[in-house]
Amino acid sequence: MSTLVLFDSNFGNTQKVAEAIAAELGNGATATPLAGLAKGALEGVDLLVVGSPINAWKPTPRTQEFLDGLGADTLRGVHAAAFDTRVRLFIHGDAAGKISHALGKAGARIVARPRGFIVEGREGPLAAGEVEGATAWARAIAVAARGAGPRAPGVTD
Ligand SMILES: Cc1cc2nc3c(=O)[nH]c(=O)nc-3n(C[C@H](O)[C@H](O)[C@H](O)COP(=O)(O)O)c2cc1C
Repeated sequence: MSTLVLFDSNFGNTQKVAEAIAAELGNGATATPLAGLAKGALEGVDLLVVGSPINAWKPTPRTQEFLDGLGADTLRGVHAAAFDTRVRLFIHGDAAGKISHALGKAGARIVARPRGFIVEGREGPLAAGEVEGATAWARAIAVAARGAGPRAPGVTD
């Protein structure tokens, strides 16, 4: 299964999560920055994970630009999942859910619930246990992507 983990990151925390996910997914999966993403990078990809920091309650502008560039059905046949990094705020907004929704809209089969990983302050570091949490989330993605069902159990968006 050809796997790509795309991320945007201002201070390196989302990159760390992306790298932990890519390492767990294996199969030569690489954590690849959205900045300077090569045209055609999605060609042949079967499993796509996209992560972004929450900036002003939503994905970063670069992440949004990537999502806006996905045409209808461009991700048909692709398994996908989305995550974000966020601070501990009562109202922290959401990026993972918005990314997941956009990936689904582009035709991807969403195989995991969108997941937020906590950072301790704007520049991080990641909260204790979040790298391990990323590894566990990735393991669940791998299992779901291998499964034959049209969607992972309980995943609705
Ligand atoms: C301009 C800006 C806006 C932000 N807005 C939010 C926000 O709305 N909600 C939130 O939980 N975190 C917010 N943050 C904190 C980021 O989520 C945090 O910087 C990010 O998760 C760190 O990941 P990174 O190191 O990959 O950039 C904001 C950070 C910046 C710099």
